Amino acid sequence: MPRELKKTERPERQELLTKPIRVAVLGSGAREHALAAKLVASPCCRELVVLPGNEGMARAGLKTAPVDLKDHAAVAAKLRELDIEFAVIGPDDLLAAGLVDDLEAEGLLAFGPKRAAARIESSKAFAKEMMEAAGIPTARHVVLKADDAPKLEQVVESLGGYPIVMKYDGLALGKGVRICVDAREGAEFVKEVFEDKIFERVGRSEASGSKDTKKTPPPLMVVEQLLSGHEVSVFALTDGKRLAVLEPSCDHKRLGEGNVGPNTGGMGAYSPVPWLGAEQLAEIVEKVFAPLLTAMREAKSSFKGLLYAGLMVRGRDFWVLEYNARFGDPETQAILPRLESDLLPLLYGIANGCFERNLDANPMRWSSNACVNVVAASRGYPEAPETGMKIEGVDDLLLAKGPRVYFAGVKAREGGLVTSGGRVLGVSALGESLDAARSDAMAALEKIRFEGMKFRRDVGSVRANY
Ligand SMILES: Nc1ncnc2c1ncn2[C@@H]1O[C@H](COP(=O)(O)OP(=O)(O)O)[C@@H](O)[C@H]1O
Ligand SMILES: [Mg+2]
Repeated sequence: MPRELKKTERPERQELLTKPIRVAVLGSGAREHALAAKLVASPCCRELVVLPGNEGMARAGLKTAPVDLKDHAAVAAKLRELDIEFAVIGPDDLLAAGLVDDLEAEGLLAFGPKRAAARIESSKAFAKEMMEAAGIPTARHVVLKADDAPKLEQVVESLGGYPIVMKYDGLALGKGVRICVDAREGAEFVKEVFEDKIFERVGRSEASGSKDTKKTPPPLMVVEQLLSGHEVSVFALTDGKRLAVLEPSCDHKRLGEGNVGPNTGGMGAYSPVPWLGAEQLAEIVEKVFAPLLTAMREAKSSFKGLLYAGLMVRGRDFWVLEYNARFGDPETQAILPRLESDLLPLLYGIANGCFERNLDANPMRWSSNACVNVVAASRGYPEAPETGMKIEGVDDLLLAKGPRVYFAGVKAREGGLVTSGGRVLGVSALGESLDAARSDAMAALEKIRFEGMKFRRDVGSVRANY
């Protein structure tokens, strides 16, 4: 571990950001690219580096530096070496592994919840417990442990029978939720969780950065009622008490147009959400965000950072499907281009304990324009993406003023970029309407080429929503 900082060596903590600071964004996906692009444009940002970022971001003009994010001591050392005053953490697994706790212990300032609060995402059973305690609308559920497996049918019966939703309790790279239509599928998922333990490895590697996580707790799963309606993602910045809600967004998880095909990490997102009115959003804040913050404080795991509620909305009713503890990907890429006011003082204020003042001095101001983000994926994604394909046509877009390109699975080769993952990049376009934004995003994507490239043409369209 790096040496302890003496008090006098600790970076100066400004209350309101009057002197520009050096910022790091931690992560390497398109979400981190969008965050970095927004933060680097802040008048309060003196310099920004993405750790480790990717070679597409570097090509887009961002500074990047290598680091192993799982090695918390190495991250702290790198932040010191680069004189970083403030680190913004993107991915959930870093938060669940206690990176914020470890950086704070080193006297470094970081945006994101501590490990205990990040459990709102990393443990679905904990999230349900909090929701129940706070009276937050959510699907009726039962938590199962391995011993309870023989009771499955009884439990499903008590929840109204099949089809039913089963969720592995821990982080599972978006693969831990199964909708089971009958007893055979239910029994199969129970076997995968409790006997084959297919998610355990994900959970362990996620926790490897922290010291006190050697013992893996026995697996749990949540069984809950299947809800129907439309899904929406609502984000709020919070210091544990005060809330600032961002404009809502929706993502499209299915691979194919018209919402068909396998689930993915997200094929695109749009904002605003025309079918979610201001009144209903206010009710969501009152019933979904505020009570959770109180429950978290009472559980001695006060949440500071970005709180994400994934909701199912049906008419006037809504239910929380899950909470996440960080900015969503790809929703962030559809939300941040619409934010006209400065984001850095808000994130900094949350980390620094002066959110209230920073928020009052920098209230969020949104563009009335719509934004559509469309992800370009590799052939074979999500099962077995092909990689190593030469990417053409992005340089002109990086130079032009219009749609923005955010890179994810790319790397440099022979003076250009090649694909290196399933979700390669995303394009975000602003327009007077969702249709106008989508059409500009399409025009930009038509200019980009790599072998096997696929993307959805219906992001943010009526056909994809309903
Ligand atoms: N109770 C539910 N009823 C209907 N669909 C659900 C329910 N819970 C989850 N889902 C579906 O499964 C998806 C993933 O579930 P979620 O709780 O968001 O877990 P994760 O994002 O961690 O995989 C949701 O986006 C939604 O489409
Ligand atoms: Mg989800």
